[in-house]
Amino acid sequence: MPFATPEPEPYRIVLGVAGGVAAYKSAELTRRLRARGYEVHPVLTREAQRFIGSATLAALAGRPAHTELFDDPTTPIPHTRLGQGADCVVVAPATAHLIARYALGLADDLLTATLLATRAPVVLCPAMHTEMWENPAVGENLATLRRRGVLVLGPDEGPLAGGDEGPGRLVEPEAIAAFVARVLEGYRGALSGRRVLVSAGGTREALDPVRVLTNRSSGRQGVALAEAAARLGAAVTLVTAGAHEVAPDVARRVAVVRVESAAEMRDALARAFDDADALVMAAAVSDFTLEARPQKIKRGDGAPTLVLRDAPDVLAGLAAVRRPGQVLVGFAAETTDVEANAARKLRAKGVDLLVVNDVTAPGAGFDHETNEVVILSRDAPPERVPLTSKAAVAEVILARVAALLDRGAR
Ligand code: CTP
Repeated sequence: MPFATPEPEPYRIVLGVAGGVAAYKSAELTRRLRARGYEVHPVLTREAQRFIGSATLAALAGRPAHTELFDDPTTPIPHTRLGQGADCVVVAPATAHLIARYALGLADDLLTATLLATRAPVVLCPAMHTEMWENPAVGENLATLRRRGVLVLGPDEGPLAGGDEGPGRLVEPEAIAAFVARVLEGYRGALSGRRVLVSAGGTREALDPVRVLTNRSSGRQGVALAEAAARLGAAVTLVTAGAHEVAPDVARRVAVVRVESAAEMRDALARAFDDADALVMAAAVSDFTLEARPQKIKRGDGAPTLVLRDAPDVLAGLAAVRRPGQVLVGFAAETTDVEANAARKLRAKGVDLLVVNDVTAPGAGFDHETNEVVILSRDAPPERVPLTSKAAVAEVILARVAALLDRGAR
């Protein structure tokens, strides 16, 4: 008798449901996940059960719904078993409270214990009122979780419970199911499978073997961009003239090329550019260079006259040879007529996005931990990013890059 081909095991999804009105949509989500052939293991928090019955989810999932950390008759160790066996954990809706507990690493109920015990990808689908969604506490907790590799889907904008309207609506069940399918196929972030080239730091032009002409850029924003791109799943090359190191958790995904002068930066970027899906040009490249003297200029010889020459405009040079579909992001350091100069630069440099820094603003620009920028593009109104960490600025920029790449790829 011929051997029967073994059926592949279905993917096992743990569906976490937290206590918000949108919990009722978890019933539909269970159906949509089942329709894709996945096993669904519902886990409800105590508050979730005020909004939807565990019997409903159990019936739709075709297996028991879990609610208790202890006293589960089906297993003596539910808190680890569910997380260990999952191919993906999706929490829909994820409330502000659930997000906070997860960010803190609490494990005071079955759902948070499952989240801590899993090595599977985790997708959070936030749903809450706009005021809560926009509260920095929620934003910072989500930023922490994103940094740890958690995927965040939504929320959507639209009608909310109680007649309100705005961002905070749970993403529709079919869109969540489709996203889970992508995650199971290997998707790990908005830049997964992309190659991102980032430049950082202020270049140094040698006067002689001892002295250099440079600028105040520290390279922090560029390093934050490289780290954020890696966390979103990209393979990153960082060409840097700065001294800052990439964070250890993502260092494996970032190839670092150290350069000094504008010409070295041009050459290093040119080598990597063709393979890159996106170039984010955060480096402060010198506009001027000079003939370096082979020996140290001696004080006794009198103050020298320095003759500066134009350095290459690296970004404009690369923009001129870009492939269709490549996304280019330039930065603009301005001190006067910030927006008018920047709008001109957007066109002149041939980039898709121009991130404008008023380097004289307090807390922003060179050598600060924080930044405040405006993102200009050719087809959308300017996006203002108020004073925040350079990591958060990087996330906003890369979300725009990911959206442009997705649009180009379609
Ligand atoms: N840039 C570059 N090569 C240079 C100078 C700048 O590639 N020699 C890039 C920067 O990395 C940045 C963008 O061009 O992404 C704008 O840099 P900025 O210094 O603001 O503009 P400049 O072109 O130098 O123009 P200006 O000095 O007139 O402000």
